[in-house]
Amino acid sequence: MSVRYPIIRPSLPARSDILADLDAVLASGMVTTSGQTRRFEQAIGEFLEVEHVVAVSSCTSGLMLALRALDVRGEAIVPSFTFCATGLAAIWAGLTPVFCDVRPDTLTVDVNSAAQAIGSATRVIMPVPVFGTPCDVAAISDLARERDLVVVYDSAQGLGARYRGRRLGGFGHAEVFSLSPTKVITAVEGGLVTTRDGALASAIRRMRDYGKSADGRDITDLGLSARFSEIHAIIGQRNVARADELIRARHQRIGEFRARLGDLPGVSFLHTPPDCQSSAIYMVLRLSPEDARCSRDQLIDRLAERGVQARGYFSPPLHRQAVFVRHAHRLARSLEVSERAANQCLTIPLYADMTDTELDEVAAEVRAAYLEHS
Ligand SMILES: Cc1ncc(COP(=O)(O)O)c(C=O)c1O
Repeated sequence: MSVRYPIIRPSLPARSDILADLDAVLASGMVTTSGQTRRFEQAIGEFLEVEHVVAVSSCTSGLMLALRALDVRGEAIVPSFTFCATGLAAIWAGLTPVFCDVRPDTLTVDVNSAAQAIGSATRVIMPVPVFGTPCDVAAISDLARERDLVVVYDSAQGLGARYRGRRLGGFGHAEVFSLSPTKVITAVEGGLVTTRDGALASAIRRMRDYGKSADGRDITDLGLSARFSEIHAIIGQRNVARADELIRARHQRIGEFRARLGDLPGVSFLHTPPDCQSSAIYMVLRLSPEDARCSRDQLIDRLAERGVQARGYFSPPLHRQAVFVRHAHRLARSLEVSERAANQCLTIPLYADMTDTELDEVAAEVRAAYLEHS
């Protein structure tokens, strides 16, 4: 069956809305990391209320640059239930991942598991607001202070989320966001490093362009080629200007899905702590191993037969992925919650501009697929 409902429909501006800026950039010849990028960084800084924003080629490169710029060596605590890029960036930055478990309710880092996993070589923790749910920021800050850890949030999925009223972006030593097409605020591709530390931001600015000195005559830092294109910056600016609208629309759609699917036996939804607001990036279903009518993977296959894309997250969990098994790593005493969640969670199509008819049809297909043989 052909795909009727892809898992995402990126939120993109109308062609007419970007043409004048596109023409100006093309005519100027200044097509990378120039005026549009600076304006985009400023708009993000205002939206997140964070002092320093550095646009880079991806969240993964942003994480690599942030970890290198912070000059940390040794081990990094990484939740096992996350996207591969969190662990890959740690290894690329020369760190050894130590996989810890996540909380059963929010699926974000379990601070007790992280604390128990700390060893004499542990220098960094990389918490992840998984599915856009903010982490336990206060507990992570306390742990980092007590155990002298650098905190780099992989906030790839968290742009727009709030913790105790404040948008993510200013927590830890740095946060890194993704602007890829699946994200609430996309620039087609790209990433953002946000920080309150001006010196760190300056280092990352140099390092996204190979590590060039201010006069360009020397290479002073271990950089990457991770600049940000002006064309992406134009698209990013249009989306950040309507960020509240995009987030509101997604929250509304998630509420409607929950109302339609909440009675399915063995199906539950993500828990957001009362002092947090999610970025509403995904519509996540969790199937209980005891009560569900089918397995998560069966449901994904049945939905595919009905033309509805769904994806299992994050499966396998990092400590079972071949690349991490092959590279040096350590494991927390138990990764039971990550193991379980990796077999339980799936996302179904969610778009900011999803119509009522589309939502009704997707919800009806999920219901029918789930109950198919029961
Ligand atoms: C948690 C997490 N980290 C990192 C990334 C990688 O982002 P990028 O593709 O911008 O490098 C993603 C992408 O979805 C993600 O979900």
